[in-house]
Amino acid sequence: MRIERARGTRDFLPEEMRKRRLMEAKMRDIAEKWGYEEIRTPTFELAELFTLKSGEGILKEMYEFKDKGGRHLALRPELTAPVIRMYVNELKMAPKPTKVFYFGNCFRYEEPQRARYREFWQFGAEIIGSDRPEAQAEIIALAFYCLKSLGIKAELHVGHVGLIRERLIDANVRNDKINRVMRLIDKGEREAVIEFLTGIGAKKELINDLICLVNLKGEDALKEARERKIIGSDSDALNELEMLLELLGYYDIVYTLNLGIARGLDYYTGMVFEIYEVGGRLGAQNQICGGGSYRLAALFGGDDTPSTGFAFGFDRLTEIFSLEEKEQNRKSVVVVVPIGERNNTERDVIKEAIKIASKLRDFFPTHLDVMRRSLSAQLSYANAIQASFAVLVGKNEIKEGKVTLRNLNTGEQEKMGVDECVERIKTCFEDER
Ligand code: HAM
Repeated sequence: MRIERARGTRDFLPEEMRKRRLMEAKMRDIAEKWGYEEIRTPTFELAELFTLKSGEGILKEMYEFKDKGGRHLALRPELTAPVIRMYVNELKMAPKPTKVFYFGNCFRYEEPQRARYREFWQFGAEIIGSDRPEAQAEIIALAFYCLKSLGIKAELHVGHVGLIRERLIDANVRNDKINRVMRLIDKGEREAVIEFLTGIGAKKELINDLICLVNLKGEDALKEARERKIIGSDSDALNELEMLLELLGYYDIVYTLNLGIARGLDYYTGMVFEIYEVGGRLGAQNQICGGGSYRLAALFGGDDTPSTGFAFGFDRLTEIFSLEEKEQNRKSVVVVVPIGERNNTERDVIKEAIKIASKLRDFFPTHLDVMRRSLSAQLSYANAIQASFAVLVGKNEIKEGKVTLRNLNTGEQEKMGVDECVERIKTCFEDER
């Protein structure tokens, strides 16, 4: 019986995994250079970790279940809440700011489509202990350096949910109602925003201001908001946003100001941003990164701690990342080839080949024939797996205490001692890097 994959999940074949590992390594390298340390949290958590802020409504978007002990659990739909839970439980006393990054799978019960899956991976970073413009600018810049390391060009949109929240709080709209409005704004449902606010008895002036605010985009957005008196000049959110934009300039980051960004998750309190792919290769799901400032620690039993972070949709990045020519070439892999008659390779050749392969494996991924194939069959296997070198071991080589190193790119080959062979391969792989 043929068993299909579960809906919204994928298998990753070796070629795809090679690409993923390479991308992951590049991003990890950048995060570490910026002083972030890697952490990992469990794949499933108590469901309340996610419902506490967003309410029970979020359950229909998650994989949630009761375990055999009756505990209500959920596969994590994202990693910010788990990271802050871990911070409150384990890292409260760590020096501030606590700067961490993570790479892990997430699960959302969504309608699968191109670049939208039910199991997907996020690569993200959080600065726990600051939501100042300096932290906001660093987080955005870090995301852009990650993209740069992958050679991906993208467009940044920056907003500030504080501006929308401030206006609604001024008009005495209750917090749960504010969250509902934010969600409608995030979905781009302007009519529904008007309908909802009208329904709760909001004044026409508030509704007009709000719609005007979320439609503001581009260079003059803040000036316009001020001129129209939608935002007061003493607004904290406004001052913060202005400083952030100045700092982004110092990092040479180009942005579009977009006050309509509300983000789907409920925990954001300040700056929010989204990064979109620009080549049209992802269709409708072109958001490759999202983030912003938030406060979750107090909700999970810790002190009120401002934080700022982002998460990349790693799968979306893999879909637009192309391996460079060099990286598509042969792999840094070696094949040891014991030479003998088909089905009759002599024991001393096998023994020597095992010894040589063991030595090479201290340095490089190395294959050794386990099917007793002929020389030509082993070489065609080496070509098929795109190995860079074959190390041939036959009776003659053993007599001379040497091996024959064959460069599978050029076809050149030469006899040499095993140590020299290791050094040659090492130099060659280092040059390629
Ligand atoms: P998010 O925008 O919900 O934010 O997710 C981050 C990224 O994950 C999205 O920009 C998107 O690229 C990717 N993504 C989301 N859902 C899917 C899916 N079903 N299939 C493929 N990719 C998907 C967060 O999760 C926040 N925790 C980000 C954050 C970190 N904010 C502060 N710190």
